[in-house]
Amino acid sequence: MTKNQYKIGTIDNEVNRILYADDCLNVLNDRLAIPSESVDLIYLDPPFNSKSDYNLPFKGKDKTAKPVAAFEDTWQWGDAQSAVLERFKSGPATRTIAQLIDVASRVDGPNAKFRLDAYLVNMAERLIAMRRVLKPTGSIYLHCDPTASHYLKILMDVIFGRANYRNEIVWCYTGPGSPGMRQFNRKHDTIHWYSVGDTWTFNSDAVRIGHHEKTKDNFKPGLRGSGFVDGQYDLAEGKVPETWWPQEKGNGFAIAARQKGQYIGYPTQKPLALLERIIQASSNPGDLVLDPFCGCGTSTHAAEKLGRRWIGIDISRFATGLVKRRILTNFKLRLDPNDISAFGVPETPDQVRELANRDKFEFEKWACGHVGAEGMFHQPGTKGPDKGVDGVLKFIPMEKPIKEQYAIVQVKGGNVTPDSVRALETTVRRFDAKAGVMICFANQMQTVENNRSKETFTDMTQIDYPVIQGLSVEDMLLRDKMPKLPNLMKLAGKTSA
Ligand SMILES: C[S@@+](CC[C@H](N)C(=O)[O-])C[C@H]1O[C@@H](n2cnc3c(N)ncnc32)[C@H](O)[C@@H]1O
Repeated sequence: MTKNQYKIGTIDNEVNRILYADDCLNVLNDRLAIPSESVDLIYLDPPFNSKSDYNLPFKGKDKTAKPVAAFEDTWQWGDAQSAVLERFKSGPATRTIAQLIDVASRVDGPNAKFRLDAYLVNMAERLIAMRRVLKPTGSIYLHCDPTASHYLKILMDVIFGRANYRNEIVWCYTGPGSPGMRQFNRKHDTIHWYSVGDTWTFNSDAVRIGHHEKTKDNFKPGLRGSGFVDGQYDLAEGKVPETWWPQEKGNGFAIAARQKGQYIGYPTQKPLALLERIIQASSNPGDLVLDPFCGCGTSTHAAEKLGRRWIGIDISRFATGLVKRRILTNFKLRLDPNDISAFGVPETPDQVRELANRDKFEFEKWACGHVGAEGMFHQPGTKGPDKGVDGVLKFIPMEKPIKEQYAIVQVKGGNVTPDSVRALETTVRRFDAKAGVMICFANQMQTVENNRSKETFTDMTQIDYPVIQGLSVEDMLLRDKMPKLPNLMKLAGKTSA
């Protein structure tokens, strides 16, 4: 990746709705893409070094099929990390960071399988780049978990200054433990909030919450108790939330996977309400919000909803494809595909063809992300058989009993043969899916049409849906077409435009 490849030019009030499929370091170091002191708020939710690869979920009949990792949540030590560490050692401002990394390397030892020091080198490099792009009045929220939050806090102290540490926010949620637990059930994340300087945005009125019923008694005229004095607090205004943000009935702080109509299947998706509170508190309408590890775009969704401008970056084409579709689906009344600029994500049929020729697997990821499909059955780094499934679309037909159904997505960058169309039908039966979608280029569609089963299924709407259907890349991009399935719920949510 060459420097300054993204020539957006100066960030003015027009710059908005930009997605990059790239390592955030490349974008953050590109001064034409994101000029210095141009961003009001950064929220980042990087991989935690939690020793796990996050897999996209799909439970079909075939339990042997393995989903692809959406991303690998580990960082390794290599030449690049050594070079960065040497650079840190020689700079007066970064020497302390090198010392912290040295401490981290001693904690686990050099032979540890997962290198905390490698994680910190990578995070330090990116956090320094983030500081460059933040306005002097800006804020940064780093979302992490107990795995490395204590190291990250020191890193942030060095980069942003201890005096600028505004809050440690603890987001608490509930969830089942596992049998025979020998410790407490870990169910919280930590969010470190730093400002850049001593002036920052905090919209306390925008984030006030209702008082608890018990506390309300203390506001009754003539009653003095629990330290409250009559008239000192205005009951109608509510209170500024504490630094612990618990999941409570109806407040939207349950993990996203437990929230109906919100979860789109991304393994580490965060709750929308959480991001809304952060963005409302620390930015104003029209401000620019940046998420350098945007995943499936919860922050960009919240920013769009709240009238902030946004930039999202994710190393995975799959993620940025999902984000684009998520935003377009949720704001379809006011946005069309041209309103979102995506870099590193192919946007024209020619660019998609070029991607398909260059990297078959990346093409599959792009296609699945574009239609909002979950789950792909290649393991990264292997070219093994994918059992005819590149992705899975979930939908809910209008029928009783209400039950989620699946469509298998098969992506073909080259020739589609009559056999491959028939094989898709076999796969649909094998996985007990309701439908199969073949995504290919327009010049292959005739083969799909000639060889596909003409069987249809229907629901209470009496619309006929083809069991096997083709969808061309050209139709997806030029005519914004999607697979013909009832209630493609996953990315629909509420239209909040
Ligand atoms: C924990 S997830 C973020 C989830 C997100 N907050 C959401 O609600 O969907 C971390 C994301 O960082 C991305 N990622 C990992 N390394 C990256 C890098 N170097 N640059 C940009 N994105 C990266 C992963 O692909 C993954 O989507």
